[in-house]
Amino acid sequence: MRQTLFATALLGLSLLGRIGTTDAAQPTAKPVYLDKNRPVEERIEDALSRMTLEEKVAICHAQSKFSSAGVPRLGIPEIWMTDGPHGVRMEKMWDEWSDAKWTNDSCTAFPALTCLAATWNPAMADAYGQAIGEEARYRNKAVLLGPGVNIYRIPLNGRNFEYMGEDPYLASKMVVPYIHGVQRNGVATCVKHFALNNQEIDREYVNVIVDDRTLHEIYLPAFKAAVQEGGTWAIMGAYNRYKDQFCCHNQYLLNDILKQEWGFDGVVISDWGGTHDTHQAAYNGLDIEMGTWTDGLAWNWSNAYDKYFLAKPFLAELQNGKIDEKVLDEKVRRILRLSFRTTLNPDRPYGSFATEEHALTARRIAQEGIILLKNEDNLLPLDPKQPQKILIVGENAKQMMTCGGGSSELKVKHEVLPMEGIENYFGDHAQITYVEGYSSHPAINRHAIRQQAVDEAAQADVVIFVGGLNKKDNQDCEASDRRSYNLPYEQDQLIAELARANRRLVVVLVSGNAVAMPWVADVPAIVQAWYSGSEAGNALASILSGEVNPSGKLPFSFPVRLEDNAAIALDAYPGDRKNVEYKEGIFVGYRWHDSRQIEPLFCFGHGLSYTSFEYGSASLDRQEMKTGDSITLSIPIRNSGSRTGAEIVQLYIHDKKASLPRPVKELKGFRKVVLEPGEEQTVTFTIDAQALSYYDDDKQAWVAEPGTFEAWVGASSRDIRSQAAFELLSE
Ligand code: BGC
Repeated sequence: MRQTLFATALLGLSLLGRIGTTDAAQPTAKPVYLDKNRPVEERIEDALSRMTLEEKVAICHAQSKFSSAGVPRLGIPEIWMTDGPHGVRMEKMWDEWSDAKWTNDSCTAFPALTCLAATWNPAMADAYGQAIGEEARYRNKAVLLGPGVNIYRIPLNGRNFEYMGEDPYLASKMVVPYIHGVQRNGVATCVKHFALNNQEIDREYVNVIVDDRTLHEIYLPAFKAAVQEGGTWAIMGAYNRYKDQFCCHNQYLLNDILKQEWGFDGVVISDWGGTHDTHQAAYNGLDIEMGTWTDGLAWNWSNAYDKYFLAKPFLAELQNGKIDEKVLDEKVRRILRLSFRTTLNPDRPYGSFATEEHALTARRIAQEGIILLKNEDNLLPLDPKQPQKILIVGENAKQMMTCGGGSSELKVKHEVLPMEGIENYFGDHAQITYVEGYSSHPAINRHAIRQQAVDEAAQADVVIFVGGLNKKDNQDCEASDRRSYNLPYEQDQLIAELARANRRLVVVLVSGNAVAMPWVADVPAIVQAWYSGSEAGNALASILSGEVNPSGKLPFSFPVRLEDNAAIALDAYPGDRKNVEYKEGIFVGYRWHDSRQIEPLFCFGHGLSYTSFEYGSASLDRQEMKTGDSITLSIPIRNSGSRTGAEIVQLYIHDKKASLPRPVKELKGFRKVVLEPGEEQTVTFTIDAQALSYYDDDKQAWVAEPGTFEAWVGASSRDIRSQAAFELLSE
């Protein structure tokens, strides 16, 4: 054996020598696909023409939990993917879900996407994308599995924290810069989950029934913006079904809308285990199949990946002519395009990982996203220089929130917990004590720890309660929904008792979802702190101490009761195990509250500041427009308080009369302006026909119907400060 190997090696050397001589005499031209000066589409065709059928099939499905094959013979690298969307996930074993236990993969955790959306600041989304893109690049990933833009339909969805809220306009404006930021690094975003994945219960199979108008007005716009304005290089199909076809191979969503109508030239990647059939996967728009677990493959059979729908079964159908090779080539072109955009891009930067700069970016986003929901008698901010007894209560003050939650789990270099952040800011002058007060652990005697907290609260100068949800099952966590709108672990009782014991109570909610607040009238100060990443504690304390003036606003409504949510009111969630019908149609979130005159607990767009803002009158540059024109609205905003602060000025459009039922108002513009005390700035918005349009099912098109419209400008969806009317003229 040894001798044979030796002889083969010698033969190889002599062959190499001969090739070397010939090459020196007649240098061969560089293959087109390797020539970076040639147009990418030409390089794709050249690479495609060099690939065997087997090589083409190999790149259409996973080769490990998070990678798909390259073409080693041609020097085309494997495609490595990572979750997403809040940081670069720790490495996993090749073929198992368990961690690979690397020691160099502890990342920066950025705030959850709900927090990013709450900044209402596209520049923050760009900074987020840039930083997480640098981390993904450093870790040599070609695809980041995120961001998620599924619309917030019900407050029970366990994955709402990974998305950007209830409004399609806000989500569209925030997703685009995130994509730009990431892709600047030669890393693709994989915007997910396309589409209609709005609940975790039955997510693997539930068929969503929704009318075309609602699909286009509510559930598709953020994806469309991601494709057409963001230019995302990848999209992830959703687990659920639509029109009775799985979304990962759905003719209507993937071929007709995404690829044809929107002109998407990137790669459709299945959600992990979202592929169910070879023919449908071949024909209905899927390009790369990931995470399939049929026939027990999740249990690591050898060569499990060969058994994927787009692996050997696909190859067999191609070989016996049942599937045309053109179908395969179409996928391969897209996958090669992804490689040229990422791993084969010689100008790709190198990235950086878990740097101080990234921690700072995470912190800035958190500081802009944290929301002051209520602040009676200006209880906040608390003076960090004042000697005082601060009692901190609540498990979430000491709970890591970057781990858990499902696929968005992270292994972080550091996470500043709320307790630590408060100590950092107040520790020099205040006497700080902690009592757990409630526990998620079932074996704990809740009554006893509650009593201890209440007793100590009576002795404190101020009580900061840090509670909310967490990343465990049936909380804010993938694969299950919440079971109740109320806070878990008897927190409602605890908060009510704390409020009775000490009037100076600040409630800090760590969650990615709205929660019931039966105690709202008794608590003077409430802060929505989200899951805010590596710098969570410092960001929170900077708001509590007033070092940072809060400027976040809600990206979704907080209903008073669960029944005030449209899907719940109409018994349209979670469906009958087979179908879920979106009976509320376009009336999601504030659109429902407005149309039914339901007073929310905290409305969409709400958020307070430590300063105050005065709005002048809105004026228009003209009162009439035609479809191709636009109108400019101007409104002066003044900081009438004594601190520098940022206001998010919101523009809603109200259609006076329409042939179809329309929401009372819809968000069509927003600006975040920073103002010094006494400073005034004029904010302008451009209103075009798209802002006035609805999607007409019959015409299958967006229609701007002539008539009178009103532009409403305000500090939230329920705090409209000025309005101005104008006409859309018929052509
Ligand atoms: C999730 C995706 C995630 C994938 C890979 C799936 O269960 O739905 O969002 O990217 O797993 O972890």
